[in-house]
Amino acid sequence: MRRKVTVVGAGNVGATAAQEIARRDYADVVLVDIVEGLPQGKALDMNEAGPVLGYEATVVGTNGYEETAGSDVVVITSGRPRAPGMSRDDLVTTNQAIVRTVTEAAVAASPGAIVVVVTNPLDAMCHVAKSVSGFPKERVFGMAGILDTARFRTFIAWETGMSDRDVQAVVLGGHGDQMVPVVSATTVGGVPLTKLTTPERISEMVERTRKGGGEVVNLLGTSAWYAPGAAVAEMVTSIMLDQKRLLPCTALLEGEYGIDGLYMGVPVVLGSGGIERVVELELTGDEQAELGRSADAVREVVAVLGG
Ligand code: NAI
Ligand code: 2OP
Repeated sequence: MRRKVTVVGAGNVGATAAQEIARRDYADVVLVDIVEGLPQGKALDMNEAGPVLGYEATVVGTNGYEETAGSDVVVITSGRPRAPGMSRDDLVTTNQAIVRTVTEAAVAASPGAIVVVVTNPLDAMCHVAKSVSGFPKERVFGMAGILDTARFRTFIAWETGMSDRDVQAVVLGGHGDQMVPVVSATTVGGVPLTKLTTPERISEMVERTRKGGGEVVNLLGTSAWYAPGAAVAEMVTSIMLDQKRLLPCTALLEGEYGIDGLYMGVPVVLGSGGIERVVELELTGDEQAELGRSADAVREVVAVLGG
């Protein structure tokens, strides 16, 4: 029997992630949505792309959870995206109810699964999924840092005229405007970014990264999905193939980076057990202070969740 990945939410991010996972061909994919016909139609379309793109994974679309039973990984993308002018945090109450409902149903069908949360506000929604599932922290975490880091890497590649493949970077903190692109750990082919451009240009790229989600929302009228869907697939692949990639993910911190009891983006080792290790980077004093401010911003949103 092939292994199984469930993606809840067949909208822009969910469908993009589902197809990217199917293309990698290590698992069948179940796509769940409340809208009748939507997951079934998208699944049919993805199955019919298989012969052209060369994948054999089966994609099943459904409005229930029976077909999701026994999933290795459950990705939660259901919820509202941001509209122009709306902050990620405005979404909290609506999406809290959705994430609570779908987590309950998904973990009942797959009690051994690893849960990857995508719905915004991301850090707060990880707290919801953790509390509803009762799973250990190693098996409930969120996707944001790979996306935020990919944006930073893209801007650096454009600025330096060098390949994005050679840009090594990491963005830490909450998935909000206080996130922390770690300039001290950013290199291109091993050369520190600070040797390749000016402090002013670096500040502009840091700022553009922090506002990267909003930049797409302002252009499109809704939030991004290609880069988010690809980032989800990268996490799912590291788990399913036990790759032990070192990737920035939103993990429950219990003292790491001086933060306790809060989901925040940090570098983690991702393997078949989920988060196998949180890695602590040496930060400059300014970066550590920025991380503290980002933690304060996440705490404010988590407080909106109530008990
Ligand atoms: P979308 O509106 O295209 O898709 C959301 C889907 O969720 C819809 O098809 C909707 O019918 C479904 N849904 C709503 N309630 C449901 C329920 N109870 N059960 C099953 N399905 C349900 O939105 P999009 O663009 O896919 O974004 C999804 C979420 O991901 C948003 O909250 C967005 O802000 C967030 N996001 C997070 C990112 C991150 O880095 N963590 C990046 C991009 C988006
Ligand atoms: C993004 O960063 C809105 O979280 C979404 O694109």
